[in-house]
This record gives sequence, structure tokens and C-alpha cells, in this order.
Amino acid sequence: MDLSVQLGRIQLKNPLICASSEFTMTAAGIRAAIDVGAAAVIAKSVNESPEAARQLSTADYVLLDQNWHVTPWGSPNRRQASLFCRSGLAQVQLDDWLKMLCELDAYATTKNSMVAGSITVAGAEPAAEIAHRMEAAGLRWIELNLSAPHGREAAGGAVRQITSSEAVRDYVRRTRREVKIPLAIKLTAQADDPLLLARIAVEEGADMLVLTGRVPGFMPDIETQKPVLGSWAAIGGGWSLPASLYWVSKAWRSISHEVPIIGTNGARSAEDVLRFLLSGARAVELASIVLTDGPPIFAEMLAELERYFRRKNISRIEHLIGKAADAALTYGELPVLAREGYPWER
Ligand SMILES: Cc1cc2nc3c(=O)[nH]c(=O)nc-3n(C[C@H](O)[C@H](O)[C@H](O)COP(=O)(O)O)c2cc1C
Repeated sequence: MDLSVQLGRIQLKNPLICASSEFTMTAAGIRAAIDVGAAAVIAKSVNESPEAARQLSTADYVLLDQNWHVTPWGSPNRRQASLFCRSGLAQVQLDDWLKMLCELDAYATTKNSMVAGSITVAGAEPAAEIAHRMEAAGLRWIELNLSAPHGREAAGGAVRQITSSEAVRDYVRRTRREVKIPLAIKLTAQADDPLLLARIAVEEGADMLVLTGRVPGFMPDIETQKPVLGSWAAIGGGWSLPASLYWVSKAWRSISHEVPIIGTNGARSAEDVLRFLLSGARAVELASIVLTDGPPIFAEMLAELERYFRRKNISRIEHLIGKAADAALTYGELPVLAREGYPWER
């Protein structure tokens, strides 16, 4: 079955992308994702700040259950859990890193997959320079992450969450000037007007939008009366899905369909991937489920997607993209209901 999707200049063999995380920080992780069928792998982010790399040495990770208690990593309910963590950036020399990514990208090509370089920004000019070096090294796709949920916690701007339209313009413009290869811009929804940020990214030459980054959080442990992990951290879970789909569907409805949207934040199953597609995403970046369940989830989700397409008699993914978003009505367009009481009164 043809599960391929077109993302502008990039064709993916299926809509499943292994998102940037500690899992994609090693050659073994990247290879494993490629081997089980991921259409692309976004490598762990780098930037110019030694402080951002140092942060990885203080990174820590827990799963929180539905009552916000820490639950074991291998818990049977892990897919329903939230991943609460600090993270940092890859601790590598850029030259060595790029050599490794290019070798892995060459390997990916043999499996009709791709490895993209990723930059979680600190400064705008250094980000553009790193992007330039990524292209010069031979990478075929760059993701510029402007959405880092750890931005406020990071020492001295070591990673930044970019929320103003002027700053988005500046980061994208400088990077676009440096590279010709496809450039994806990952945005946060924690801004006054996320759609404005998306429009500006496109105006400045983004080839793809990645929507949306995770959010910062805080969780007291009621027994110790201290914060879980001892600090603020970033969080995501299945509960993030509707909020991510909100911005994906709004971007689908308001931004040219020439600009592919990649969904991220909240997909924990093939059904969730379908929900992203129906909202207007052409592909989905998965991180937490890869960290909790390992790379076999790619093969599992692909098999489930195929079953769905057969059951629904859908020959091409294109037919599904944005279908639910197109059917959504504004509140003003809704018909008046002949109401016989409210649900909680029945
Ligand atoms: C431990 C961890 C590390 C991450 N590191 C990065 C990173 O370096 N760069 C980046 O752009 N996103 C990073 N992310 C965000 C993921 O790429 C992804 O967008 C996010 O987790 C939402 O997807 P999910 O719901 O499938 O986890 C990280 C996420 C996690 C959980």
C-alpha cells in the first residue's frame, strides 16, 4: 500500500517521523528508527552554547500517571502517562556530529528514509551558521526549533523559546539566507498569536511548519512536598493532542497548502497519527512513544495505518489530509439547536 506523502520538495515513504530527542542522539538510535520504517529521523538538536550541552548532564526524566504520581518507565499504562523531563542538547563537536549524521543519512537513503539536522536556537546568527555547516556537510533537510519549552529555565539564553513575531522573522530570515535545502520551522503555541508566527516563518522562507512544541510544567510531590525532579521541566502527554490539533487545523485553514505542516506533541498511537492527518498535517513527529516503547512502534503504527486505509477504502493519504479541518464550522456558522435540556440535566 502506498503510504507516501509529499512535503514540498521532500517525499516521505510514510507519514511517520522519529522526532528529535535523546533517542536520536546516537547512531544506534537513529539506525534503529530507520530500520523499523521511520520515513525520516530528526537528529537530536545542537546549538553553539556549551551551557545548552552541559544542561544534558543535569537532564532527568519521569513518567507521571493520570493522578500525577511518578510511575515506572515500563508501566503497562505508559502510553497514557505524561513525560515530564529536563533535557539538554547533544554534547558533541559539530564536525564530528555532522560527519556522523551524513553517514547515517547515506544509510537512510538505502532504506528510502532521511536524517535531518536539528538546531534548537540560542543566538540567531550562530543558528544560521550551524545551518550553513549542516548544508555544506551534505545534509538534505534542517529543522530549526524555535519552540524549546526549557527556554525560561536555561541559563543565560542557552536555549530559547521564540514567541515574538520580530524574533521569528529574524531567526528564519538569517537561516534561510544561509541554506537552500528544505527548512522546517518548529514553533511554540505559547505565543500571543501562533498563526502569525507561522505566517511570518512562511514569509521568510520556511518550507515546512512543525506544530507545536511541548510546554513547560511544574509538579509538586505531595509526600515530599518538593517539586518532582527538583525543578521546573517540560511536559507532554496524550492530553496535549487536542491542543496541538487545534493549531495544526487552524494553520491548515489559514496558511497556503503549499506549505506542509508536520504535527508533533501528543501522538501516542496510529489513531492519533490519523487525527493529525485529518487536522491538516502531512506527517507526524513522534518522540515520547519512542522513548517509552522503543522503535518497534513505527512498524506497529504502520501496520495499523494500513489496516485503517483498507477498512476505509482509502487509496492515498492525500485524500485524508485536512479532511476534518475542512469540515469544521466556526461558532458563527453553527445551526441553532432545538435543545431539550443540557446533557448534565438528563
Ligand atoms: C526527552 C526529550 C528531548 C527532546 N529534545 C528535543 C530536541 O533536542 N529538539 C527538538 O526540536 N525537540 C526535542 N524534543 C521534542 C520532541 O521532538 C517532540 O516534538 C515532542 O516531544 C512532542 O512529541 P511527542 O508528544 O511525540 O513526545 C524533545 C522531547 C523529549 C521528550
